[in-house]
Amino acid sequence: MRILLITGSPREGGASSVLAGAFEKGALSAGHEVFRFDAGLKKVAPCSVCEYCHTDGDRCIIRDDMDELVPHLLESEALVLASPIYYYDVTAQLRSVIGRFYACRKDMHRARTSAFLVVSGDREEESAAGSIQNYHALVHRLRWRDAGVIAARGIVTADEMRKSEFPRLAEDLGRSIGTL
Ligand SMILES: Cc1cc2nc3c(=O)[nH]c(=O)nc-3n(C[C@H](O)[C@H](O)[C@H](O)COP(=O)(O)O)c2cc1C
Repeated sequence: MRILLITGSPREGGASSVLAGAFEKGALSAGHEVFRFDAGLKKVAPCSVCEYCHTDGDRCIIRDDMDELVPHLLESEALVLASPIYYYDVTAQLRSVIGRFYACRKDMHRARTSAFLVVSGDREEESAAGSIQNYHALVHRLRWRDAGVIAARGIVTADEMRKSEFPRLAEDLGRSIGTL
């Protein structure tokens, strides 16, 4: 299975990166191909609703690092999103990428498996609840098959993540995603 893993943190090697890395490790060990796009370290502008993709062209008019991602968006059989919570939602960098799905919308509706890995500093459910709800709405709208959500709550640093149970859960999910 070709898996596209899109992460959202601008913090290289941070907590959500450790979690994403564990998922990747599990997926690779099961023989899947993984393309990882660290949106937090890339330059992707938000959709400006110019509607070029609806009118003159069938792709986005903006040229930036999204060009690197689009072929994988179109071809992947699974799409996994991984993000820390920054003020009750995924990062702005990941939101920009999701907004730019607009220009690929016809291909985005193709059946595929998905998963969501989310990390919040607080333990309260409400911190990540909005992002999980948004993920489920996206999955429903695009008719993807949800393979699971891992909500790692109460984790602030990469070291706390490494010492927690969550990397093992993410690795298991990576290993089993092709069977879910
Ligand atoms: C700008 C910013 C905003 C944050 N907002 C929240 C929040 O609203 N709720 C929460 O539980 N944690 C919040 N956190 C904590 C992060 O979710 C937590 O530290 C996470 O592990 C960071 O992951 P990263 O190292 O991959 O960036 C915030 C952290 C930052 C830097």
